[in-house]
Amino acid sequence: MAQAAVRFDQVRKNYGRQTVLQGIELDIAAGTSFGLVGINGAGKTTLIKCLLDFCHIDAGCIEIFGTRHSDSRARARIAFLPERFMPPYFLTGRDFIGYMLALDERAAEADKVRAMFAALDLDADALDKPVRSFSKGMTQKLGLAACLLSEPDLLILDEPMSGLDPLARAGVKRLLRQMREQGRTLFFTSHSLSDVEEICEHMVVLHRGRLLFCGSPRALVHEHAGESLEQAFLNCIGSDAHG
Ligand SMILES: Nc1ncnc2c1ncn2[C@@H]1O[C@H](COP(=O)(O)OP(=O)(O)OP(=O)(O)O)[C@@H](O)[C@H]1O
Ligand SMILES: [Mg+2]
Repeated sequence: MAQAAVRFDQVRKNYGRQTVLQGIELDIAAGTSFGLVGINGAGKTTLIKCLLDFCHIDAGCIEIFGTRHSDSRARARIAFLPERFMPPYFLTGRDFIGYMLALDERAAEADKVRAMFAALDLDADALDKPVRSFSKGMTQKLGLAACLLSEPDLLILDEPMSGLDPLARAGVKRLLRQMREQGRTLFFTSHSLSDVEEICEHMVVLHRGRLLFCGSPRALVHEHAGESLEQAFLNCIGSDAHG
């Protein structure tokens, strides 16, 4: 069996009296692509924050490539793009990419950076502009470029397509498929079920802090008798609402 890139074991997270995650059991095999879906407030971002040790968990444990998630060495193989990505406003695009790669003790190779910007349809002029002058979509592309250029073993993206136009979305999907072909592990949230269907071998449905489904998009359609992935997803969370 492939090594688990990430393992959640009976994870619970409370915010005050509210239980936001409960009994989360999930193995993400190394080299696979996982989509995490759920309605607003389901707990997707909280699950990622727990994984990255940005917040304390109330029960259970999490491992990243076999190392406890709270050990900083566990996170050395990860690149992460948050839901609301805000790079320091005073940096240029080039500075930001340079600093992010320097954290990994890597140099930014000009050719690779230019090729990545082109693949994301981000104008090379953005390298010399301060990020405060970027549009929302340009900022998102800069964050994606930094994550992808760091060539991580595990890529964690919280709504990577947010704010992107159709051309850029197609570019990102191509790049994410390439990451997979290189044997990297991909774990991302999305409200676009068609993107999940296109990119992911596996998906998980999180609803009211519980995992209702883990399997292939095709299996979700099969198990929840949907005509489409969207209908199957609605049936899946509906069965929880009424069950
Ligand atoms: N820092 C916090 N303090 C208190 N409650 C929080 C905090 N962060 C999130 N929550 C609550 O936890 C629940 C899950 O939020 P979370 O951000 O994980 O949802 P999500 O699935 O990522 O939603 P969205 O699709 O809107 O991004 C919500 O009820 C939210 O109000
Ligand atoms: Mg979220």
